[in-house]
Amino acid sequence: MVGVSGYQLGGARPSTVRLVEVGPRDGLQNEATPVTTADKVALIRALAAAGLTTIEAGAFVSPKWVPQMADSSAVLTALGSLPGVRLPVLVPNLQGLEAALAAGAGEVAVFAAASEAFSQRNINCSIEESLARFAPVMARAAAAGVPVRGYVSCVLGCPYQGEVPVASVVRVAEALMAAGCYEVSLGDTIGVGTPDKAAAVVRAVAGSVPIHQIAAHFHDTYGQAIANLLAVLEVGVQVIDASVAGLGGCPYAKGATGNVATEDVVYLLDGLGVSTGVQMDPLLDAAQLISAALGRPPVGRVARALLAKRAA
Ligand code: HMG
Ligand code: MG
Repeated sequence: MVGVSGYQLGGARPSTVRLVEVGPRDGLQNEATPVTTADKVALIRALAAAGLTTIEAGAFVSPKWVPQMADSSAVLTALGSLPGVRLPVLVPNLQGLEAALAAGAGEVAVFAAASEAFSQRNINCSIEESLARFAPVMARAAAAGVPVRGYVSCVLGCPYQGEVPVASVVRVAEALMAAGCYEVSLGDTIGVGTPDKAAAVVRAVAGSVPIHQIAAHFHDTYGQAIANLLAVLEVGVQVIDASVAGLGGCPYAKGATGNVATEDVVYLLDGLGVSTGVQMDPLLDAAQLISAALGRPPVGRVARALLAKRAA
């Protein structure tokens, strides 16, 4: 069956998806309630127990800008190594990378915006300057044997400039890959995208980046993330970022809510027969654990439904 935008439903859908859990970083970076290092460590262990094999564990950014991530070094140290689990951390510059390496990070992620206005607000420099900053970061990471993931933010809209040209997204994605990233994650930072636009931006990037190296990183602010994920799965996306309990938002994107909830994504993929290796029951335990620490219920619909069933 051919959809209205021309993509083949079920055509390119993968049989396996790798989930990248970003709750402990992207989620918690924007939660107002302080979360202790011990609770972060317990959350990451619970996520690993649920079968998540890539868990973004923190960010080595300025604690003045994002105080919630100030204990990332302590989190990595307390975790040590979790067998079979990659624990990438976000780094904005060489200073962050050095701190991450000193804390034992085995993988890092860098980020650039497709929107000029967002780049200025988020990291205090232009897109070009941010791309130039990556050169020493990439060189140092390569020397240390540490793989680097690249994020492009505001791929489907910007809180400051509104529309973001698809060509800007492609240019930044290409620059990150050319710099040596092993994968590029396309961020709908403020969750404004809709399915045809999401599919179109992935298709455009796939013109120069192999589809298996493109990840979808969708926030659920407007409730479109699951629909957008289905659309990009049909284009062949095989890596999806999600946040347990739908945690978080972005400190530099007012009103942006959390990433799509991991429970919602696992439910979707289970229903489609796409394997993830993640088990719903222990994932709910992780959602409950962090929700108790934050003093509020999980945001995702699936967690709410299944936890209500559990309670009954
Ligand atoms: P700046 O103020 O322009 O940097 O910030 P600077 O180089 O002038 O340094 C100023 C101070 O910051 C100095 O300290 C530095 O030592 C310190 P002072 O001398 O004033 O005491 N500093 C650092 N401290 C710790 N770790 C570091 C570091 N670098 C400098 N790495 C900077 C520039 C990038 C550092 C700052 O703007 C920053 O940290 N911003 C944080 C941005 C951030 O974390 N945003 C959220 C993550 S992005 C995101 O969520 C989107 C994503 O999820 C994808 C999507 O959804 O689209 C990835
Ligand atoms: Mg994000």
